[in-house]
Amino acid sequence: MAEVLKLLTRNVGKANSTNVDSYMASGGYEPLMTALHKMSPEQVLGEVKASNLKGRGGAGFPAGLKWSFLPKGKDRVKYLVCNADESEPGTFKDRLLIENDPHAILEGMILAGFATQAAGAFFYIRGEMPQGFRIFQRAVDQAYERGFLGKNILGSGFSFDVYVSRGAGAYICGEETALMNSLEGKRGEPRLKPPFPAGFGVYGQPSNINNVETYANVPLIIKNGGAWYAAIGAPSAPGPRLYGVSGHVKRPGVYELPSGVNLRELIYEHAGGILGDRPLKAVIPGGSSVPVLRADQIDVTMDPDGLKKVGTMVGSAGVIVMNDTVCMVKAMVNLMQFYAHESCGQCTPCREGTHWLKLILQRIEEGGGKPGDVDLILDVSNNIMGRTICPLGDAAAMPAIAFATQFRDEFEAHIREGRCPMAHTHMTVAV
Ligand SMILES: Cc1cc2nc3c(=O)[nH]c(=O)nc-3n(C[C@H](O)[C@H](O)[C@H](O)COP(=O)(O)O)c2cc1C
Ligand code: SF4
Repeated sequence: MAEVLKLLTRNVGKANSTNVDSYMASGGYEPLMTALHKMSPEQVLGEVKASNLKGRGGAGFPAGLKWSFLPKGKDRVKYLVCNADESEPGTFKDRLLIENDPHAILEGMILAGFATQAAGAFFYIRGEMPQGFRIFQRAVDQAYERGFLGKNILGSGFSFDVYVSRGAGAYICGEETALMNSLEGKRGEPRLKPPFPAGFGVYGQPSNINNVETYANVPLIIKNGGAWYAAIGAPSAPGPRLYGVSGHVKRPGVYELPSGVNLRELIYEHAGGILGDRPLKAVIPGGSSVPVLRADQIDVTMDPDGLKKVGTMVGSAGVIVMNDTVCMVKAMVNLMQFYAHESCGQCTPCREGTHWLKLILQRIEEGGGKPGDVDLILDVSNNIMGRTICPLGDAAAMPAIAFATQFRDEFEAHIREGRCPMAHTHMTVAV
């Protein structure tokens, strides 16, 4: 069984873990001091590249490579952004870090700022996380007081500012360009790409955006070296990984394990197995936007290569577990209500497609399904895929296709019988 790690979560559960003194007492800000006084920006970037750190926000893009897309030098004002919007259903790992170890995230952001010679960073936090906002703002204030932020940090000549900004409760504002619009006070609508954020980002300046967990890895990399980091877990996407497990498990929670842990082990060993000792029915392995798996497909590793073999993705590593009491039509209605509600409406395939998927599914659930409805769901979904400005369209269509394909028999039974064939077994659980 994979050993539970205490790297990203090293300070979680410690007394006063959000306080700068506690953070420093366990070696916090030492990697920053090392970088500022003993390393060049290129060396810091080199270590992050060598670590092969992949983004933890969903797409898994190599962090070091993304940083290197920013223009070099100081001729143009460059910004970093930390994406703390965390609104993907089934995903709650960033919140754990924000509320328990804000200085680790902040230190990662300052290190990234030094590596890219950025002028400052924006921390964009989901509006429904008021506690996280207060905790992070206090961490920023403390970092200014101690000279880790501001002008000429620790006498190094490097200056860097951090601004904390709150969202207002829209899932789409987690998409990088919608987030940037929202930061600027505009409607939270995704921008067409190109231009990409590295050339035209926040306020039109070259910008780099990373997820909370991505930044939190950076102090570990600078402290221990890129090679050390690259040797942890799955080689193609290495490092410690925060897996959030929710739904029908006995011990829901966030588990820090090496990337590439076996999915069955994660559910049955770490999360304690299935609630009520009932049979497992389905698992969404990476937040609601990735294709669902059947119970017979969970002997896989939780890394991009492992999950690709069964047609799904690691996404945000939010694992949603469903036992045999779950009606898959009802589960999909729930998901499609979410995506239809959160679509920003700019693209017809996403705006209309998610809305019609919701309506078709609700009709099936209410007993009005018609022969051909499953093919209609697949047709509508396939006409969303790849035809939108941002990936929210695909994020709705991919799970829709997987639900209707993997559990087609159950959908057909609903349509044939005009009711839920398993209505007597339903059991609700908070995800
Ligand atoms: C609809 C939508 C919502 C997203 N929400 C988040 C989010 O809450 N947090 C996040 O880090 N990335 C989110 N992303 C991904 C971001 O666009 C972006 O890829 C990510 O912040 C990059 O960080 P990373 O490279 O460190 O993963 C979302 C993407 C889409 C399409
Ligand atoms: S895909 Fe959906 S959420 Fe994204 S820009 Fe288009 S309408 Fe908006």
